[in-house]
Amino acid sequence: MKILVTGAAGFIGSNFVYYELDKHPEDQIVALDLLTYAGNLKNLDGCKDNPNFKFVKMDIRDRENINKLFEEEKFDIVVNFAAESHVDRSIEDPEVFLRTNIIGTEVLMDASLKYGVKRYHQVSTDEVYGDLPLEATDSFFTETTPLHTSSPYSASKASADLLVMAYHRTFGLNMSITRCSNNYGPYQFPEKLIPLMINNARHDKKLPVYGEGLNVRDWLHVCDHCAGIDLVMRNGRNGEVYNIGGHNERHNIEVVKTIIKALGKTDDLITYVTDRKGHDLRYAIDPTKIETELGWKPKYNFETGIKETIEWYMNNQEWMDDVTSGDYLTYYEKMYSKK
Ligand code: NAD
Ligand code: DAU
Repeated sequence: MKILVTGAAGFIGSNFVYYELDKHPEDQIVALDLLTYAGNLKNLDGCKDNPNFKFVKMDIRDRENINKLFEEEKFDIVVNFAAESHVDRSIEDPEVFLRTNIIGTEVLMDASLKYGVKRYHQVSTDEVYGDLPLEATDSFFTETTPLHTSSPYSASKASADLLVMAYHRTFGLNMSITRCSNNYGPYQFPEKLIPLMINNARHDKKLPVYGEGLNVRDWLHVCDHCAGIDLVMRNGRNGEVYNIGGHNERHNIEVVKTIIKALGKTDDLITYVTDRKGHDLRYAIDPTKIETELGWKPKYNFETGIKETIEWYMNNQEWMDDVTSGDYLTYYEKMYSKK
């Protein structure tokens, strides 16, 4: 089987490439990425000599080159991770989110139809459901929860989901969608909560917690997410949506304090800063459908997963130094100096 993985040099995409090469060594992976600020070819260093792996630098919005690639490679499965993925950036500058997340999806689906791809899989997010009240701890997102977005990022991802379902109904595209909760693990760009806090703490820099730190996220180890996508894109029913999540809900402040403790620092580093505009209160996934239909179960619990993840960043400080130099410093100054 030949699989196109877009956004393959980003956080989840790169973890997925390793997962696939290990789990299905008979398959061929074409890893595509534009290498934006979030894409790092070094994330894929560990598979560059694998004969079943090939990297292509390309923009998913570039219809002409995408069509050429599809014509040459004749993919069986396309799995689309490529996206602008950071909520705070979408609040500063929404346009690129619409172009990449919506138009890019359309270009990939057009090529999938034209060149006979057997399954198009869209990697989506629980953020398309909006948020849940903090106090309603027995309420969860299911696949039938109405889409109700908060940020330009989540609106662009929900738009893409609707477009994927429209291509299924109108043009008969064979497709599936997964909607996962917050991921953590190796190779996450340190604009996101966990690697940002680890990076700041290792330099004894202030840890900027938005609002009161009481918002809740439902954390899933990236390898469990990859396993879920792999099952759905191979065995999931055509035209279906599957939620992925492991019931690991934590207040942000608990996550930050876990990192502080693991690194032997003190809570004095915490600084409460201006809240994110439109900040979603709580995410919580009901994963019953993927568990019962496809037998998916997470392997990690949050306590062991976060411990291993913190260790990974501390053992890969060169990677962290590399991605937090240059443009990252300008980004950090722009986003956090006003808070
Ligand atoms: P990321 O920002 O780390 O990676 C995105 C990758 O896409 C980068 O390598 C970037 O270079 C690439 N890219 C961006 N624009 C492109 C374009 N026009 N053409 C080709 N490549 C392009 O993001 P991530 O956290 O790995 O998320 C991957 C996917 O998973 C996204 O679709 C995101 O919405 C979804 N998702 C993420 C999470 C999470 O917690 N991180 C949870 C659920 C779903
Ligand atoms: O739920 C899935 C989503 O999870 C994905 O679709 C997104 O691509 C991914 O970025 C993530 O979105 P969040 O907004 O939840 O993740 P982020 O790491 O940006 O923030 C997590 C929480 O931590 C959120 O409540 C905001 C808060 N936060 C974040 C940062 C960067 C802080 O308090 N301080 C910070 O500096």
